[in-house]
Amino acid sequence: MTTAPIADRTTAVAARATELSKIYGQGETQVVALDRVSVGFQQAEFTAIMGPSGSGKSTLMHCVAGLDTFSSGSVRIGETELGSLKDKQLTKLRRDKIGFIFQAFNLLPTLSALENITLPMDIAGRKPDKQWLDTVIRMVGLSDRLSHRPAQLSGGQQQRVAVARALASRPDIIFGDEPTGNLDSRSGAEVLGFLRNSVRELGQTVVMVTHDPVAAAYADRVIFLADGRIVDEVYGPTADSVLDRMKQFDAKGRTS
Ligand SMILES: Nc1ncnc2c1ncn2[C@@H]1O[C@H](COP(=O)(O)OP(=O)(O)OP(=O)(O)O)[C@@H](O)[C@H]1O
Ligand SMILES: [Mg+2]
Repeated sequence: MTTAPIADRTTAVAARATELSKIYGQGETQVVALDRVSVGFQQAEFTAIMGPSGSGKSTLMHCVAGLDTFSSGSVRIGETELGSLKDKQLTKLRRDKIGFIFQAFNLLPTLSALENITLPMDIAGRKPDKQWLDTVIRMVGLSDRLSHRPAQLSGGQQQRVAVARALASRPDIIFGDEPTGNLDSRSGAEVLGFLRNSVRELGQTVVMVTHDPVAAAYADRVIFLADGRIVDEVYGPTADSVLDRMKQFDAKGRTS
């Protein structure tokens, strides 16, 4: 590894898992969902997590995001060890430092787009930074839809509200679990474009689980999981290079 010239920006780690394991159940029914996974997520980097169903993608993301407990190992968000936090502190950290985008957009139906975007900050009693909010809303192209309720928006627009909601509080890191899984390819491409822009232009850190090689190609790197372990990593992915790797794993899976 060479030392990066813009060290502050490129070498700071937004989140890191070290020897992270998550085991469900006991004895015969035991499932090792994560098997000593070590991975870092650099600031201003867009990472995609891929792997077969059941390989531990959601588990990894939930553990790193403080949404789920782990069996052993450690997780750091910025400088903070999650294991050292009490429940209240963890809730606060999640609220202040982490943004989420889910597959089902999880918007509140009775609130307008704008109210949905600022809801987490309203709950936290924080005033949104108006200028930042404007930037985010402009970037996701929702300026003329702010008073619409979710039911009055298309799926792609709803997911853009969810993206804006995740960005609005300027979290240290945004996690998305198949954020474009419910969108048609055009809406998906828009949402992925906004996520990538937020990384390139706003320095946002994004970690996204996806099954789609085309979606993964928007990322700066792709991590491949299989059976709870990281089995490969690709920098500067293209849809073709990702598809090639996926085929290799499929072939291995079938012969073993
Ligand atoms: N609450 C639970 N109790 C027991 N086992 C669980 C639980 N949640 C997940 N698992 C198991 O842990 C493993 C990893 O699950 P995980 O949800 O992380 O997979 P995934 O890679 O996100 O899959 P998908 O692509 O289908 O979403 C699976 O084998 C799953 O059955
Ligand atoms: Mg999953």
